[in-house]
Amino acid sequence: RRALLGTAGATGLVLGAAGGAVGYAAAPAGATPLTALGSGRAMFHGKHQPGITEGLQARGHLVAFDLVAGAGRKEAAALLRRWSTTAERLMAGEPAPHDDTDVARDAGPSSLTVTFGFGHGFFGKTGLEKQRPAALDPLPDFSSDRLDKSRSDGDLWVQIGADDALVAFHALRAIQKDAGSAARVRWQMNGFNRSPGATAHPMTARNLMGQLDGTGNPKPSDADFEKRVFVPASGEPAWMANGSYAVVRRIRMLLDDWEKLSTTAQEQVIGRRKADGAPLSGGAETTPMDLEKADAKGDYLVPLNAHARITRPDRNGGAAMLRRPFSYHDGIDADGTPDAGLLFICWQADPLRGFVPVQRKLDRGDALSPFIRHEASGLFAVPGGAAKGEYVGQRLLE
Ligand code: HEM
Repeated sequence: RRALLGTAGATGLVLGAAGGAVGYAAAPAGATPLTALGSGRAMFHGKHQPGITEGLQARGHLVAFDLVAGAGRKEAAALLRRWSTTAERLMAGEPAPHDDTDVARDAGPSSLTVTFGFGHGFFGKTGLEKQRPAALDPLPDFSSDRLDKSRSDGDLWVQIGADDALVAFHALRAIQKDAGSAARVRWQMNGFNRSPGATAHPMTARNLMGQLDGTGNPKPSDADFEKRVFVPASGEPAWMANGSYAVVRRIRMLLDDWEKLSTTAQEQVIGRRKADGAPLSGGAETTPMDLEKADAKGDYLVPLNAHARITRPDRNGGAAMLRRPFSYHDGIDADGTPDAGLLFICWQADPLRGFVPVQRKLDRGDALSPFIRHEASGLFAVPGGAAKGEYVGQRLLE
């Protein structure tokens, strides 16, 4: 099974025993034995929703919905119940409850995860303003933002990930059909990561700039991992116990400009070596970065504006987040530039102690800023996992 074979997932997470929240079970016994990839299975029920601490999947769909006029709390509760039933079945490798399309027939669950979140607008439309967490207050404007509002925000957000493109599409289609007359798609984004098994050994994934991306992520074995990523069981509001906040940013990479830089110049931008992710202060990928180390001329080996120096938790009052992205490529623009980059998704117990302070710092300009452009944004409250017999969000909606 992939999840147990891989020790260092692309998020830099150690999977299996160390990740208490990561529940993988044996694939259901079927007539046809599945490959290791197909039989990978994440659990729908648990303390946390799936799709947060698991290793990166090869395919992803992010889709936001708006409740239609007239749909309120009752319709939303029925929708979350339908979505939860569908997610549970598909994640077990079973067909959708109604009118299955056969698209995932023959395939195993392929590590499918389906994750549900609520956006700021959801609470007004369902009469639940009092339950809206303060942490869902809109993100501040950043001076470098170039946001397309029609591809930002949304009342409801669904993240789908799987190691097989057809399994992921199958889930997307089932989720969209379940929305019925209650909610309409606001935007959708499609992403990908390296396929499991493509490298000789499990390693941190590369992004479309070619860098190892995920090295500095908090690890499930860190003593403060849960505290950083998840709302505590005693947290406020009570329905968000064991939940997390997802910040989603569609970040275009200006690849034509980036690729003109020499490898040395690219390494100065990040502060890490491109080939193996090691800090420019020396060592291997996981060697702690030495921020004080300088060359004979007295210049810091990790430049002052290097992305990996500026984003460090110890430079941001301890602000930390779990980055779990997908890359995207949506074709070539009329001017010949690729519409490609990162569907940046980061998870934290509180965006004001995660994404916001770090992005404020980056917005003042790090060495990476000239090569990227934030084009869409969302912030979603992702409740804790559903217990057996419960649907996701039930503690808010019942
Ligand atoms: C680290 C790339 C945007 C937060 C890194 C690293 C790379 C990278 C290569 C070093 C390896 C690693 O630790 O993962 C990118 C690219 C981006 C981007 C290509 C945009 C396309 C952002 C944004 C944020 C962010 C928007 C948050 C506001 C971080 C953090 C670290 C990091 C927290 C780890 C710092 C540490 O723990 O030492 N990024 N990044 N990045 N980045 Fe980014």
